[in-house]
Amino acid sequence: VWVVDENVDNLESCAQITESAELLQKNEVVAFPTETVYGLGGNALSEIAIAKIFKAKGRPADNPLIVHVSSVSQLDQLVKHIPESARPLIEAFWPGPLTIVMPGGAQVASNVTAGLDTVAIRMPDHPVARALIHKSGIPLAAPSANLSGKPSPTTAAHVYEDLKGRIAGVVDGGPTGVGVESTVVDCTGDVVTILRPGGITREQLEEVVGKVSVDPALSNEGQAPKSPGVKYKHYAPQAPFTLVEGDTEAIQSLVNEAKTEGKKVGVLATEESKHHYDADLVISCGTRKDLATVANRLYDVLRAFDKENVDVIYGETFPTSGMGEAVMNRLMKAANGRIIKKEFLGN
Ligand code: TXA
Ligand code: MG
Repeated sequence: VWVVDENVDNLESCAQITESAELLQKNEVVAFPTETVYGLGGNALSEIAIAKIFKAKGRPADNPLIVHVSSVSQLDQLVKHIPESARPLIEAFWPGPLTIVMPGGAQVASNVTAGLDTVAIRMPDHPVARALIHKSGIPLAAPSANLSGKPSPTTAAHVYEDLKGRIAGVVDGGPTGVGVESTVVDCTGDVVTILRPGGITREQLEEVVGKVSVDPALSNEGQAPKSPGVKYKHYAPQAPFTLVEGDTEAIQSLVNEAKTEGKKVGVLATEESKHHYDADLVISCGTRKDLATVANRLYDVLRAFDKENVDVIYGETFPTSGMGEAVMNRLMKAANGRIIKKEFLGN
């Protein structure tokens, strides 16, 4: 693990960045911070490097990776052309948590795109990520740096827990800011389509390109998603996790029931509600007044339940506007779709 102080004068010449850039040039894989979550980076132009990423994560080969750039000029070697609809999005949101799916270019390693004729690209807004991409001189394919199926890592310690011994190193740039992954949009069709909600909200996108559509698979279980990764079990804590609509009393009565069965019970709560619960482990993931705080802490909280070995977890739900859309998307996955709707509660 290399610790980097992102406030140093010349990030690119510090030893940690220089060493990791050299490893990347040798087609090794290195984890690094972005503003969303930590990524596991490798040379996007090398099949050998990309194969190492899939192996280290235990990731299914049909789930393509996002390519990270530090300048728009790098797109030339990665895409066939930049779609018209992508230009205002690049202008408005790069660098930042927006990934854009575009027609793929020939140079990108075929295992990056899992054989698709499109490629997903983003320019991260984190000084360490940018310095590493620039210093190595190569576009970096980088999925989240977790073992496949686990919550994405928001600290270098999370990466270390999952991948120690499996990768060349981790650049530690402190905890990430956004906390959930980038929004993935498809710009290859007539309308911009959200494939995965994330750090840029639907409302923000619509301010720039007008009405956007949402991949129907995101709300409809039966449908095959256009973003292959979306279909896999993801973000799941070890204990069964159930979301509960309604109020704190609804959750508390489920907690009480589980307790009488001798279970160790966890509750995913908020600043507003945490004092209302009597359970073995109550963790607040942020305040309802600002759902960005919830996004920021979400994965760390899910990992915390694993550490305490709870037997069962109940969690509150959130409104699905703004950052709430990404938060509820991740929570629904972590819960494997288990949600107790308000109308089903006994009282
Ligand atoms: O914030 C993020 O996006 C983080 C950081 C490290 O940049 N990365 C990340 O990567 O979340 P990953 O691999 O965990 O998720 C990539 C998502 C998956 O859902 C994948 O299926 C989708 O992007 N994706 C990649 N290429 C695609 C393509 N050509 N078409 C459609 N979806 C694609
Ligand atoms: Mg991931």
